[in-house]
Amino acid sequence: MKVLITAGPTREAIDPVRYLTNRSSGKMGYAIAGEAVRAGHQVLLISGPTSLDVPDGIDFIPVETAEEMYNAVANYLPRMDVGILAAAVADYTPRVFSHQKIKKSDDTLTLELIKTKDILGSARVAMGFTGFLIGFAAETENVEANARHKLVTKGCDLVVANDVSRSDIGFDSHDNEALLVFPDHTEHFAKAAKHELAMYLVSLIGGGE
Ligand code: CTP
Repeated sequence: MKVLITAGPTREAIDPVRYLTNRSSGKMGYAIAGEAVRAGHQVLLISGPTSLDVPDGIDFIPVETAEEMYNAVANYLPRMDVGILAAAVADYTPRVFSHQKIKKSDDTLTLELIKTKDILGSARVAMGFTGFLIGFAAETENVEANARHKLVTKGCDLVVANDVSRSDIGFDSHDNEALLVFPDHTEHFAKAAKHELAMYLVSLIGGGE
C-alpha cells in the first residue's frame, strides 16, 4: 500500500535568526516509517527538522513550516491508501516575518500569531482523502474525550492519544504509552518502545502488497 507519514515539529520563522517550534523529536513518525517499509509498503515521509536518520527505502520530503507541510501533504495524500499524520504541526505562526533581525528595544515585545491550516483536519474534505486516516493527539488532560472529539471532527479512523504532561513518554522520549481511540472502541497500549507501537500501528493497516 502507499503510505504517507508526517513527522517532527515545524519551525515558524520570526526573523532571520529566530523561530517558534516545539519539543517533538520525530521519533514516533520515523519509527512508523521504518516499520511500514519493513512490512513492504511504499512509504512517503514528510518531515519537519529532526536530528534523525531517514530510514532506507523511503521517499522523503523535508519541510520547515506548517504551510510547507500542508502543501506537501495536499499534493500527495489524495493518491495514498493510508495517511498517518504524526507531526507536531505548529498551531500558530507569526503574522509577519521580519526580514531584518528584530533589535532589542522596549522591555516587552508582543508577537502577533495567526492560526496555521489544520493538515489532519483538511484531509477528508479539502484534500478529498478517502483512505485509512490515523491522527495523533497530544493531550495534558481528558485524554480519551479530547482524542475522541478529534477522531470525529477530523474524520479519522484512529487517533493515537498521548498524555504529554508525563515526561517518561511522548515528546522526545524513547517510549510511548497510548490510548488508541477507534470509532467504536478504545484500546490501551501499555508503555513500550516507540518502535513497538509503530509495529502495532503498521499491523493495523494490513499487508504491504
Ligand atoms: N495537526 C495538523 N495540522 C495542524 C495541527 C495539528 O495536521 N495545524 C495534526 C497533528 O499532526 C495530529 C493532530 O492534528 O495528528 C492533533 O494534533 P494536536 O496538536 O493534538 O491537536 P490540535 O488539533 O492542534 O488541537 P489542540 O491543540 O486544540 O489540542
